[in-house]
Amino acid sequence: MSDKTYGFGLVGCGVIAPTHAEAIMRLENAELRGVCDLNEEAATACAAEYGAQPHTDLAEMLARDDIDVVNILTPSGLHARLGIQCADAGKHVICTKPIDITLENIDALIASGERNNVRIAATHQNRGYPIYEKIKSYIDDGKFGEILYGSAFVPWYRSDEYYSDGWHGTKKLDGGGALINQSIHYIDLLIWFMGRVERIYGFADALAHDIETEDMGSAVLKFEGGKHGIIQGSTCTYNGMPARIEVHGTKGNVLVVGDDLALWDVEGEERFEDALAGRKGGAADPKGGMQENAIVSHVKQIGDVIAAIEEGREPVLNGREARRAVEVILSVYKSSETGQPVVL
Ligand SMILES: NC(=O)c1ccc[n+]([C@@H]2O[C@H](COP(=O)([O-])OP(=O)(O)OC[C@H]3O[C@@H](n4cnc5c(N)ncnc54)[C@H](O)[C@@H]3O)[C@@H](O)[C@H]2O)c1
Repeated sequence: MSDKTYGFGLVGCGVIAPTHAEAIMRLENAELRGVCDLNEEAATACAAEYGAQPHTDLAEMLARDDIDVVNILTPSGLHARLGIQCADAGKHVICTKPIDITLENIDALIASGERNNVRIAATHQNRGYPIYEKIKSYIDDGKFGEILYGSAFVPWYRSDEYYSDGWHGTKKLDGGGALINQSIHYIDLLIWFMGRVERIYGFADALAHDIETEDMGSAVLKFEGGKHGIIQGSTCTYNGMPARIEVHGTKGNVLVVGDDLALWDVEGEERFEDALAGRKGGAADPKGGMQENAIVSHVKQIGDVIAAIEEGREPVLNGREARRAVEVILSVYKSSETGQPVVL
């Protein structure tokens, strides 16, 4: 590592901005220098909180030589367009989830990184939680045996008020509903654990909100090698319940509820079971992401982008990696519309 301090800028000073700002401030070789929002009040308040300079014009922030990396934290449908603008200005780009809402936009963003020789990365903070890192390493080391089945259930709740802000639940800016905005955290984990999805059969409907996208999505998956999987995500579960993710192999089972371990049963190890495990996290609170574990994981993922720049390699959570969850979710929508399975 060099002794360079990387200058960061944020675009979008809403709910997720404090988590990124806090993570950047904890990295020794990173400094938050600029924040940009079309809403001047939001930009000024965020800048004052974190000692950065406020901007309402992205081009003006991108003209600064002291900013190397820009984190895109706007409504999801704007990520690729703004990311490409940043990459074309020579800045490295980190998008919050989802990296964007269409595969065409994501591919254009990845191409802009290659064209400008800058890194394109994403943050999916759940991958950085110790329990999920442990599960991933057990799977990779074969300690669960041959993996047979995995599922992700995200029975969350969002109010009508949440969906009345002009972008949540819209096709144009959210790109979908419960699956692409909320459940993506756990869908990304499931794909990370289970591998490539080959076939999907899904349903996506608005059952309890007056929105143009889904508040209820369900899908049956077949992964490479024939493994089965189920995804179920909603934002209309009464009061919201903790998300659950489970993986089953020939030598072990694991169940995580609300990001807490609920069951660990692996050959040769002591069995652990805690039926009451599980925080509600973002179950009913849209601001549930601003938690200590989320900040620590953002520190790891943003730190990896700096290391990738220094080492001339791709970030671990690069554009192609972040594209995978979006591809699966868009396939659920397509299957729901056509009534046919989607083969990937
Ligand atoms: N990782 C997580 O846990 C997590 C949690 C919440 C949101 N998110 C993601 O973060 C993104 C933003 O969500 P949010 O809840 O913070 O939204 P938000 O509505 O609270 O904030 C978005 C901000 O972007 C600004 N904005 C809109 N268009 C802009 C533009 N062209 N240039 C500059 N600023 C612009 C708005 O004025 C607003 O202040 C979404 O993609 C969402 O999926 C991630």
